[in-house]
Amino acid sequence: MSFVFITIAIWSCSSKIIQPKVAFVSKNQLEIRVDSVLKLMTLEEKIGQLNQYNGFWEITGPTPKEGQAAKKYADLKNGLVGSMLNVKGVKDVRALQKIAVEETRLGIPLIFGFDVIHGYKTISPIPLAEAASWDLKEIKKSAAIAAEEAASVGLNWTFAPMVDVSRDARWGRVMEGAGEDPYLGSQIAIARVQGFQGDDLKARNTILACAKHFAGYAFAESGRDYNTVDIGESTLQNIVFPPFKAAADAGVRTFMNSFNELNGIPATGNAYLQRKILKSDWNFDGFVVSDWGSINEMIPHGFAKDSKQAAEIAINAGSDMDMESSAYVAHLAALVKEGKVQESTIDDAARRILKVKFELGLFDNPYLYCDENYEKETVGKAAFQEGVLEMAKKSIVLLKNEKELLPLKKSGQKIVVIGALANDKTSPLGSWRIAADDNSAVSLLEGLQKYKGNQLTYAKGADVTVGRTQFIWETKINTTDKSGFSEAIAAAKTADVVIMSLGEHGLQSGEGRSRTDIGLPGVQQELLEEVYKVNPNIVLVLNNGRPLAIPWADEKIPAIVEAWHLGTQSGNAIAQVLYGDYNPSGKLPMTFPRNVGQVPIYYNYKNTGRPVMTEPDSVFWSHYIDEKNTPLYPFGYGLSYTQFEYSDLSLSQNTFSGDGQIEVSVTVKNTGKYTGKEVVQLYIRDLIASVTRPVKELKGFEMIELQPGASQRVNFTINKKTIEFFTAQSKWEAEPGDFKVFVGGNSVQTLENDFQYLK
Ligand code: BGC
Repeated sequence: MSFVFITIAIWSCSSKIIQPKVAFVSKNQLEIRVDSVLKLMTLEEKIGQLNQYNGFWEITGPTPKEGQAAKKYADLKNGLVGSMLNVKGVKDVRALQKIAVEETRLGIPLIFGFDVIHGYKTISPIPLAEAASWDLKEIKKSAAIAAEEAASVGLNWTFAPMVDVSRDARWGRVMEGAGEDPYLGSQIAIARVQGFQGDDLKARNTILACAKHFAGYAFAESGRDYNTVDIGESTLQNIVFPPFKAAADAGVRTFMNSFNELNGIPATGNAYLQRKILKSDWNFDGFVVSDWGSINEMIPHGFAKDSKQAAEIAINAGSDMDMESSAYVAHLAALVKEGKVQESTIDDAARRILKVKFELGLFDNPYLYCDENYEKETVGKAAFQEGVLEMAKKSIVLLKNEKELLPLKKSGQKIVVIGALANDKTSPLGSWRIAADDNSAVSLLEGLQKYKGNQLTYAKGADVTVGRTQFIWETKINTTDKSGFSEAIAAAKTADVVIMSLGEHGLQSGEGRSRTDIGLPGVQQELLEEVYKVNPNIVLVLNNGRPLAIPWADEKIPAIVEAWHLGTQSGNAIAQVLYGDYNPSGKLPMTFPRNVGQVPIYYNYKNTGRPVMTEPDSVFWSHYIDEKNTPLYPFGYGLSYTQFEYSDLSLSQNTFSGDGQIEVSVTVKNTGKYTGKEVVQLYIRDLIASVTRPVKELKGFEMIELQPGASQRVNFTINKKTIEFFTAQSKWEAEPGDFKVFVGGNSVQTLENDFQYLK
């Protein structure tokens, strides 16, 4: 049979079963369509669906004739590729899709994936910053903007959200997730999945989401990326899994496994994770993609002797698609023939991928996402700019504001701005913004210049790093050059207010960018101290992709604003907050340590058997001899230009049982002079349990807005679900016993009360 005939056979046979334009396809009908395609496929073609290649070829350039690119091109033409990543723009997507659809024997369309982590070209704040907003609607909207822009350039799949609960600020990838808390992380995972995928995957403005990295990746020993992970089942179940489970329940269609080994078994070859937990316990019916080359990485892990054995382990463990190892396409057919892999295992993986292709509408219209005019109208459009600006303002966290230095007065002030980051239009884009153009962000200086009432002077002071701009491979080396100090110090002397923009360059966090020193990089700490000597009226604007240890600044500097890497509209967002046109409302999603030696430090720690000093001057309790146990800024912390007072924490009753519940209410009053938003947080503590429980666990939050002088009663419900955890019986259940409940504006300053759960 010629390929043309079979291609036609697929289309007609699928359209005989169901008309392509029917809006709703029931699961059963969908399965029938998938099976109808699967039946026509050879073993090699099924394996081809499990193969994902990185973009290998400039469509506009010459056809590759030799080497890896030529092999990949040949595979594509032979129907041995199911998906591609890192192909940018409608023109290239269409050209590759055309080969898949019109030149292969069966004409099965490709899925195009891309790391749309916080925007495609219009960049929103890094995900850790967005998490600081605690604003689920805004986060969902931000993901929807990213999806719409990405879909307009031909993409239909993002490798996001990263839902790894992260406790270690040394790990560069904390910037990519929602921070340290499983509850907040779960809510944000849901918001992001819904934002990317919308209600209809076939719509032109939605794309597939991908929950990654399954699992444990953030627990890399000593915060060093790709390092060994060894954690017990209780931590896995209670801390690591919840955001993944939430994403699965929210309908995420793909998962990505991870580079790390977990308790001796690489995640990519881990059947417990992928087959038992994900596909069996959670009934996940989408597909799992490996991480980049992670199938072959099982060789250096010491788990597979060669690529063939790695392929066997990975597919049997439930890894459906091979990202860039070329192990499946090279070896699976032989492994099936040798009986080491069942053909039904290949069928299952191929079926999952084909199903998602049907869900995306690609079988109805493979060029659904390929419209140059729509691309032109959509990329960078004004509504996106407004959206990412709103998200950026909400992501800013006010860490300190003594003597009400902020908000800045709008006129009559001499303001000096210091720091290379203030004048940088690339760094605010942060890590993982592959499609954005360098220099496309609004710098802080540009944002401040829009306020005309004050006299504004800029002095760099010092760079953060030494030159070089290449994004993917580069290691940013801190500069030691202090030649700009004197100019900055001289300028600061006569200023009413000095704004110092210091921190990490946008490329000093992210994948492969772990740090052992999480202070201000390079000579910036020294610059800060020198400027402080001549003018202490400093507003420190921090830019960073991870919690920083800044104890000196916390002690001396009157105003500190956490401004992360805020994306395309960064400078406008920070300026609007500094001038009080937006009252900051962000709360930290990750604990800030005093000292890197405290890391990993997180609010939901266990009490230990020796939590406090019981004998005077004893050393035999859980502490450091050179540093406090407490953080610099705790989880959930963040100030406003106004103040909030909490009172009257009351419970509808102090006991509940079975399916009963307790209503918790608290009064929050705005006692300051500005209208402001506050994130009211509910925590619990399970005092005695079959597996020890953390000293506090976030179980609810609500954002309210209050006018000066206004107050509001805020209510939460506690029920069985609230107190459930993975118990010593290896199941999620509520254990009877005594509990504490806490409500407050952060994880430390809280009102508290007690309740009991009776079976
Ligand atoms: C990262 C993934 C990413 C993939 C594709 C890997 O290095 O770990 O998170 O999605 O590359 O770019």
